[in-house]
Amino acid sequence: MKSFKKILLFAIPYKRFAFLNIIFNALYALFSALSFVALIPMLNVLFGKTPKVDAKPVYKGITNLKAYVTDFINFKIGETLEKDPLAALIFAIALILVLFFLKNLFNYLAMFFITFLQNGILKDLRNSLYVKILSQPVSYFTEKKKGDTLARITSDVLEIQHSFLSIMELIVREPFTIIFTLAVMFSLNVKLSIFVLTFIPISGIIISSIGKTLKKHSQNVQQEQGEFLSIVEESLGGLNIIKAFNAEKLFTTKFFRSTAQFFGFSNKLLNRQNLASPLSEFMGIGVIGGLLWFGGSMVLIEETLSGTVFLAFMTLAYNILTPAKAISKASYAIKKGNAAAERVLEVLDAPNELVDQPDAKNIKDFNQEIHFNNIGFKYDAKLVLDQFSLILKKGETIALVGQSGSGKTTVANLLNRFYDVQQGSVSIDGHDLKKIKTHSLRKLIGIVTQDSILFNDTVQNNLRVGNPKATDKEVVEAAKIANAHSFILNLPQGYDTNIGDQGNKLSGGQKQRLSIARAVLKNPPIMVLDEATSALDTESEKLVQEALENLMSNRTSLVIAHRLSTIQKADKIVVMQDGEIIEIGTHKELIDNESTYKKLVEMQSI
Ligand SMILES: Nc1ncnc2c1ncn2[C@@H]1O[C@H](COP(=O)(O)OP(=O)(O)O)[C@@H](O)[C@H]1O
Ligand SMILES: [Mg+2]
Repeated sequence: MKSFKKILLFAIPYKRFAFLNIIFNALYALFSALSFVALIPMLNVLFGKTPKVDAKPVYKGITNLKAYVTDFINFKIGETLEKDPLAALIFAIALILVLFFLKNLFNYLAMFFITFLQNGILKDLRNSLYVKILSQPVSYFTEKKKGDTLARITSDVLEIQHSFLSIMELIVREPFTIIFTLAVMFSLNVKLSIFVLTFIPISGIIISSIGKTLKKHSQNVQQEQGEFLSIVEESLGGLNIIKAFNAEKLFTTKFFRSTAQFFGFSNKLLNRQNLASPLSEFMGIGVIGGLLWFGGSMVLIEETLSGTVFLAFMTLAYNILTPAKAISKASYAIKKGNAAAERVLEVLDAPNELVDQPDAKNIKDFNQEIHFNNIGFKYDAKLVLDQFSLILKKGETIALVGQSGSGKTTVANLLNRFYDVQQGSVSIDGHDLKKIKTHSLRKLIGIVTQDSILFNDTVQNNLRVGNPKATDKEVVEAAKIANAHSFILNLPQGYDTNIGDQGNKLSGGQKQRLSIARAVLKNPPIMVLDEATSALDTESEKLVQEALENLMSNRTSLVIAHRLSTIQKADKIVVMQDGEIIEIGTHKELIDNESTYKKLVEMQSI
């Protein structure tokens, strides 16, 4: 129930629709009860039982409304009945039609308004989820499966729609229906009404006992959904490798296992849920059976009740069953939806460890230096950087080299504040990164990585990620600096060519040059290049290297390089091993000494 209430908070901006819905539902319920009573004059006409009303009744105020309306209708019908029985019949039928028309009109209006409320909640829920996902630190998703997050934003939100939102209308309407129907029933016959009323709590207890395990089942179903979405997501990402390694069977087995689990879980869930409707209908008809016997004897033996009123009463009693059924269904749906809501709220309420402090500074430019001061950092348990210190002065290019796993990318991640250090500090112009607005920090840094991350969009839009406000001329200028302009012009639609999922319609070197152009367009004072050339062949490497040199000129750069030939011009080369700096110097200084660097260079030139 707690999660349901939290989801309902999303309804606040749409409360005027809720208000309209309540009004029209109340009207609907009222006319729904009245439309059954309208059967009485009609039955009376058919069976010749229309009570005699000799004089046209006078209206004596609201307390006598029921008597007045009944007398008025009976008077009208009685009057015409003598002259033209068919006209009286038509009058009685028209009465029914009008009431049913109004009932359904109000029903539609009630649904009309609640639609905006439901869809509005869905929209805002998805938006909040997306914003939250983007605001989470990178580390959040290395722990979570992407498919699971996908499942939460799609199928869990849908489940919330199917369970919570679709029953919102029931929650308002059905109690109204019950109240109005009961009111009319009491006005027809008190004794019979009390008889019906005693059965409602009994049915309620039986029904809620079945709903108990529904949440658990629903949780299993949603979780498994996340599982198989993860498999699909991974398979699509690694399609080449799955095929090349003939691993289709392996993945198929994994997927089939997951869907088989899903099959089992959802069968359990649905079979239990489906019990609600038949069970309550049968219990309802049990009540009706009792009522038939009880009321029937009042009509036949005691003669305290007229047959026509009893018939109308029966239909009203049946009319109470539908909402009772709907309410039991609603209670099931809430239990089922709770599981989905909890999963969605888990994402929304997840604490964000990397939020800006309230007094965080806005830095506008970079003037002096970046200082890694005695840093200790670990992802999980193992220390990845230990007592790491480095100063990067404005205008300098520093290259980080070393075996893979030595912590180079980690240094770049810390500068971008994808993670926070556990010991020491990273500062820029003397401001600790933890004390400045992350958005303003990232404005100052451009990044090019080994796997150029591109989006399924046009060349132009991919570049504009770097600077959405750039003019066309600036876009072309950036592409030229990145050696990308001429190949872009050769694409079928030039700058408007869609580059496919992850840019897969392009070669590695082309993708790399686009990601360089994107960084050029952003035009930040600091550049971080993480193995930006290591995935390339010699030919495109030359083009890309040139592009990178253009990019780095007049900037401060942190270059992580696998190919040592590309960093010989760096102001400082920092050699790392197991998270520590073992050598530092220019290319010449390091080569002149018997350094690890020299050995690495010699190994690469063989
Ligand atoms: N997200 C992560 N979670 C846990 N450990 C990580 C993560 N990223 C990197 N590591 C570990 O940190 C160490 C340094 O990695 P990294 O900085 O990527 O090295 P390099 O870029 O020099 O190859 C490695 O031992 C690696 O296993
Ligand atoms: Mg790396």
